Order: sequence, then structure tokens, then C-alpha cells
Amino acid sequence: MPNTRITEDFLGFGLGLRTDHFEHILQHQPDIDWFEVLSENYLVAGGKPRYYLEAIAEQYPVVMHGVSMSIGSTDPLDMDYLKALKKLSNDIQPKWISDHICWTSIHGVNSHDLLPLPYTEETVNHVAERVRIVQDFLGRRILLENVSSYLSYQDSTMDEWDFLSQVAEAADCLILLDINNIYVSARNHHFNPLDYLKKIDPRRVQQFHLAGHSDFGDYVIDTHDHDVPPSVWTLYQAALERFGTVSTMIERDANIPEFPALYNELLEAKHIAQLTLPDDPALARSQFGTPSLDDLGKFISANHASPQKVRA
Ligand SMILES: [Fe+2]
Repeated sequence: MPNTRITEDFLGFGLGLRTDHFEHILQHQPDIDWFEVLSENYLVAGGKPRYYLEAIAEQYPVVMHGVSMSIGSTDPLDMDYLKALKKLSNDIQPKWISDHICWTSIHGVNSHDLLPLPYTEETVNHVAERVRIVQDFLGRRILLENVSSYLSYQDSTMDEWDFLSQVAEAADCLILLDINNIYVSARNHHFNPLDYLKKIDPRRVQQFHLAGHSDFGDYVIDTHDHDVPPSVWTLYQAALERFGTVSTMIERDANIPEFPALYNELLEAKHIAQLTLPDDPALARSQFGTPSLDDLGKFISANHASPQKVRA
């Protein structure tokens, strides 16, 4: 299944780059395969954030992830924003650029929320047309991520997974599948998350997000402030079975732990991928979590006593 993808980049296992971890990363150079950077934090050249980003981008593959494209809005596309995005892309050479299939602003007022769209033919055509314009401008395919949602529209005529699939097909763009968002929306809207996975074209899925959420029983909020829970790990495994090896990362936006805690959580993702897809050669390309010969040497000398003279 992975060989049928429209693009073949498999980056391995990554983390969202957070300011709390800048120093740790530069000092310890952990063997994370790649980092995802929040585009809006680095659009202005110069300053400390750009210093750290450029230093890290010299050592690791990076991808750009945005929250301001407002691809579903009826406002005109913000060309100043797109120009800044393109400039950042030229500067740091990301492997790819993503945003969300949503709207964030209307009449120039930014809600700072990733709001869901009505799932209709008209919206498919509207969003696809705007994605094509963005892709022409940036000179590359973009990835659109499914958002979590807490409301739906009476006007919708199709399911979310059909809407996402139809936009991706019509615009010829790629998909960033957020496994946690599927779980959150499935709980809030009472659908089977496996139905979602089944309807998405594996050729277009370029990246997975994993994250935690807050479970209030009757509803779930996509807070990104907890560890990835067992329910999302289970859905991740189902996604691996459906889509094969996909570049995977953990998003943590609040209650951010020390870097080693996120590192260990990402190890869990790789472990699940190895158990689910034991024969997938792409997984062997991930260096993350693989001890170096130097590390192995230190481990052996720390755990085995040096040879003793045998007494006669
Ligand atoms: Fe996400």
C-alpha cells in the first residue's frame, strides 16, 4: 500500500517543535527523525525563534504546519500571508506544508479557531478551487488536515470523510490525517472512526498527527494537553493497517512535558508501527530510537563485568 502513494516521502517519527525544547534539542541532538514547525511563529525573519528554527532545520528535516490559511472562508485568500509562507518555505526548505480543512476568519475577523465547514458539493468546489490557487502560488501540493469538531450543519449533505476525500481529489492535494481529531469527532458526532479510515484514499495520506484530549464523558475536547490515550493508540494501529507506514508525529500544545517524556511517547508510536507492520521496509529507514554502536558499547560495558582472572 505505501508504494501506491502520490508522493513517497516517509520521514519516520517526529515531534512538534516547541520553544520549551529549543535548548535541549541543540544541546543533546536527539535522534528524532524530523520536526513539525508552526509556520505562524516564524514568519518574521530575525529574532530568537528564527535563530533556533534555522539552527534546528540545518540538522533535521522539517515540515511547516499552519493555522491561518482559512482555506474554507468566503473571504479572499490572504496573499500577504501566503507570500510570507512562501518566503519562510524558501528559507527553511520544509519537506512539505500543511494547514487545516476549515475556516478561521470571515469579513477580516480572525476567530483563532479551526471551524468546521458545511459538507456540501458547493463547499467541495469552493475549497478545492482555493487549494489549487494556493498550490499554484506555492509551487507544490499542500496537505490538508481534518479538524476536530463540536457542531455540524443542517445543510451538510455528506459525511466528513467523503468531504475530505472529494476536496483532496478535486484539488489534487494531500492529507494530514489527525488520528486524535478523528477519535474526538467520532465521539462527539457518534460515528465509527473506522468508517472514516476506510473512506480515505491511502495514496493521499502523507502524515499522521497523534495527540491527547480531554474526555468529559458526553463529549471530548481536543486539548492537546495530555499524553496520547489508549483509545487513540488503538485507532493509530487501525490507521497503520489501512494506510501502511506514514510519517507520524505527536502534537503537544499545552502542559508540555520535558523533552525526554515526549521522546518516550514517540517511541511508543514506533513500537506500535513495528508490531503492526513488521515487514515494512520503510520503517527501517527511521533512525529514531535506534541505539548507535557507541550507545551499545556503553550499554554493554555498563551491564557486563570486565573479565576476571580464573583462579586455579
Ligand atoms: Fe493535528
